[in-house]
Amino acid sequence: MNRKYRKTIIAGNWKMNMLASEIKGFMEQLKENMPASRNCDVVLCTPAVMIPAMAKAGKDCKVYAGGQDVSKYEKGAYTGEISAAQLADVGAKYCVVGHSERRQYHGESDMLVNEKTKALIAKGIKPIICVGESLEQRENELTMEYVAYQVKAALSGIDAADLKQCIIAYEPIWAIGTGKTATSEQAQEVCCGIREVIRKKYGARPARSISILYGGSMNAKNAAELLSMPDIDGGLIGGASLKPVDFSTIIAASNQE
Ligand code: 13P
Repeated sequence: MNRKYRKTIIAGNWKMNMLASEIKGFMEQLKENMPASRNCDVVLCTPAVMIPAMAKAGKDCKVYAGGQDVSKYEKGAYTGEISAAQLADVGAKYCVVGHSERRQYHGESDMLVNEKTKALIAKGIKPIICVGESLEQRENELTMEYVAYQVKAALSGIDAADLKQCIIAYEPIWAIGTGKTATSEQAQEVCCGIREVIRKKYGARPARSISILYGGSMNAKNAAELLSMPDIDGGLIGGASLKPVDFSTIIAASNQE
C-alpha cells in the first residue's frame, strides 16, 4: 500500500452466496468487529437483487454496496440484464467487471469487459476490473504478457480523467477459491507490472494514483503480508468476505502503516 498517493480498498465479492435476509445479521457482526478507525474504503459486492439492502445496511458504517456485473447496454430489450443506471439507482458505488468466472462461464471477451467498464464510468460507478492468468499461462511464463494485454484491452479508449474512477484487481485464476494464495512476492510483481502498464499508457501521475488490488484466497491470516507490499492497495475477497469476523480482520490488516 502507499496511502500517500492512493486509496486502500477492501472489497468483498459475495459471488452467488448469501440472502438479502442475512445482510442485517452479517452487518451487525461486521460492525462489532470492525476497527473503530479505518484507513480504507470497504465495499461488499453482492448479487444485484441484494444491493438495495446492502446500500441501506452499510450507510451508517460507511460500507459501500457494489455489483458483480453490468450490461454493456444503456437500456432496452435485453431480458435479464441490469444496466449501470439501474445499479447506480439502487445504491451501487462500485462494480466488479471482467471477473474470471464471467470470462470463463459466460464467455466474456476483453472487448466486452472494455464496453462494460465504459458503461459503469458513464454512470459514476467505480469499475473493479479483474485480470489474471491461468495456471498454464503462469507455468509457461506468460503471466505478465497476458495480464498486460488484459489491462490494455479493458482500458482501451478510456482517458486519464476516467481512469481516476477505475480500480484494477489482479486475480490469478489458479488462486481463486483454491486456498492457494499467490505469495506476496508473486502478487507484488504482477501488481507492480500492471502499474508499469498504466505508466506507459497514461504517465507517472495516473500510475501512482490508481489502486491495484490482489484477489485469490486472501484471508484473515495472509492479508497483512499481502497488504504490506508497496503495489498492493487492497484486496478483492471471495470466501473470506462471507465471514464477518474474517472480513473485519482483513479490514484491520489494512490499517498497518
Ligand atoms: P476467493 O477469495 O474465494 O479465492 O475468491 C477471490 C475472488 O474471486 C474475488 O473476486
